[in-house]
Amino acid sequence: MSGVKLRGCGHCVPARVVTNDDLARRMDTSDAWISSRTGIRSRHICGEETQAQLCTEAARMALERAGVRPEEIGVCLVATMTPESLMPSTACALQKALGLAQDTVCFDMNAACTGFVYALHTAECLLAASPRRFALVVGGDAMSRIVDWSDRSTCILFGDGAGAAVVEYRPEWPSVGAVLGCDGDSELLYAAGPGSGKTPRIAMEGTRVFKFAVETVSRCIAQVLARTGTAQEDVRWFVLHQANARIIDLAARRCGIGADRLYVNLSQYGNTSAASIPLALSEMQEKGLLHSGDRMVLVGFGGGLTWGGALLDMA
Ligand code: UT7
Repeated sequence: MSGVKLRGCGHCVPARVVTNDDLARRMDTSDAWISSRTGIRSRHICGEETQAQLCTEAARMALERAGVRPEEIGVCLVATMTPESLMPSTACALQKALGLAQDTVCFDMNAACTGFVYALHTAECLLAASPRRFALVVGGDAMSRIVDWSDRSTCILFGDGAGAAVVEYRPEWPSVGAVLGCDGDSELLYAAGPGSGKTPRIAMEGTRVFKFAVETVSRCIAQVLARTGTAQEDVRWFVLHQANARIIDLAARRCGIGADRLYVNLSQYGNTSAASIPLALSEMQEKGLLHSGDRMVLVGFGGGLTWGGALLDMA
């Protein structure tokens, strides 16, 4: 057994806040509909800020809070589906902006909203073969660039932001026990890429994704606990992808998890895709909610369809 623990987190969101009432002035919707169906009240939307800038600031904060120097990082991964440039990757931009060593493994990966959990598992595997102990795992998306602003059932859900985590690897620590999966046969959630010749716009069958999400989150929690041999009562926090407060409530209820062990911040940010879990972790650290030894179950789900869960301990 060998694995990673969390050392420190950071986050960054654009300055501009767009409330449900702001959206209601632009389209046929209302604060009452959005907040009752999703729990979302506002989101941050990029103005001048770029996805790479948000990721850089989040990563800087994570390094500082972790007390880790850039040259101690061996792996830098950015989970994103909205990179500022396809090439170089956002991870390469971070190498330059943060002054990471030139032999740092740097690349972006796309597992949509599950990206952070996929990246956490990947970082753990790569650190096992690295001469350095630390990795930067970042999730950053500017979803406002790809939402279809004429589709009121999806555009109201998303926001922009970045979250970052510095994790430390030690051979004697247990693995995060990641449970990852994919059903590539599904077309419930879709956005075209540059190779398609189409404008990238998110299309989603909301009600079916909702059902998939509730089932997937409950299943992933059970699988992570079983794989790591962890009792549910030993987990201090369940940090679930912040897509919809009703999904979180229903999944938690199915698993018998009380509200005191859930961290929910989507009312302020909406669904920030790959950023949602590290953004939550960063806020938790900021509020003094994370203590050494705390065990957390993280679960992401999203386009692909993809899903992933992991058990992350605070170092
Ligand atoms: O990370 C990505 C994963 N994605 C998700 O987790 C999304 C999962 N799905 C959801 O969160 C929910 O399905 C939604 C919030 C997207 C939609 O909620 P719903 O309860 O499934 O609503 P619905 O799509 O069944 O629509 C109900 C009604 C419809 O009107 P009619 O046909 O009943 O007259 C919609 O046209 O609500 C209408 N509607 C709206 N009304 C006001 C849809 N969007 C809006 C809106 N404002 N923004």
